[in-house]
Amino acid sequence: MHNDPFSQFKAAQREGWALFVPLEAYTTPAAASLVNFARVQRGEQLLDVGCGTGVVAVTAARAGAQVKALDLSPVLLERARWNAGTAGIAIEFAEGDVEELPYPDASFDVVLSQYGHMFAPRPEIAVAEMLRVLRPGGRIAFSTWPPELFIGRMFNLVGQYLPPPAGVPPVSLWGDPNVVRERLADKVADLAFEREAMYVPALSPQHVRESFEATAAPVVKLVQSLKDEPDRLARFRAELEALIAAFTQGNLVRQQYLMTCATKLSV
Ligand SMILES: C[S@@+](CC[C@H](N)C(=O)[O-])C[C@H]1O[C@@H](n2cnc3c(N)ncnc32)[C@H](O)[C@@H]1O
Repeated sequence: MHNDPFSQFKAAQREGWALFVPLEAYTTPAAASLVNFARVQRGEQLLDVGCGTGVVAVTAARAGAQVKALDLSPVLLERARWNAGTAGIAIEFAEGDVEELPYPDASFDVVLSQYGHMFAPRPEIAVAEMLRVLRPGGRIAFSTWPPELFIGRMFNLVGQYLPPPAGVPPVSLWGDPNVVRERLADKVADLAFEREAMYVPALSPQHVRESFEATAAPVVKLVQSLKDEPDRLARFRAELEALIAAFTQGNLVRQQYLMTCATKLSV
């Protein structure tokens, strides 16, 4: 990684996401939805960026695609290799950054990202890289969190306590179809959106908060940063629990995510 102003931010992401493994239980069903939404075909060359523990990569490979997958976190890649091995499939994993993909131009038929590329600090660079490695006529598809629903609001709440570095837009903007349309702009055609539900078991708001504090990088980082500020930490926890309660019904946090799919234009 270069010594640009965003390197420190990415180093923190690399560190923070290391605890994500338990959350693959929730992203596994979503992976099947994204692979279907992107109409992945047998034999296609496919890249999963921000692959985490490889749930999209494994799902796409089981559907017959030839898969490569990349993530910042070596800890998650270790789990991803185990997941692929357990399923008995070959996937080429790489440690790397979506803002600097180590693949030639036009080398994939499909580029996917499930709640992954949205964490890159410079959306325009992440998009440019994902489209660079995609062949003209290939499909880009990703899942992201809408700003007005639970996870998007949780990220916005975290941002109020621990703002991102200057120049890094809120990650939840990736869940707004108007922003996605602007970011993909005139480089794609056939832009399509769909929302899908994801439910998280909630014995109590406190259980869900504890679970995010132990697994979700932005929350992990915030709680670490507030360790010497007990009043602010208590205020954050109360606000997060209220947010969780607002989206909970029948011991489930009910939320939706946004899927986007588009075709890369020839020029
Ligand atoms: C919410 S997790 C999603 C993981 C996986 N796609 C899934 O659905 O289970 C976000 C992932 O994005 C990765 N990530 C964050 N910033 C990244 C970057 N700049 N380049 C590559 N991966 C990144 C993290 O390491 C983490 O694995």
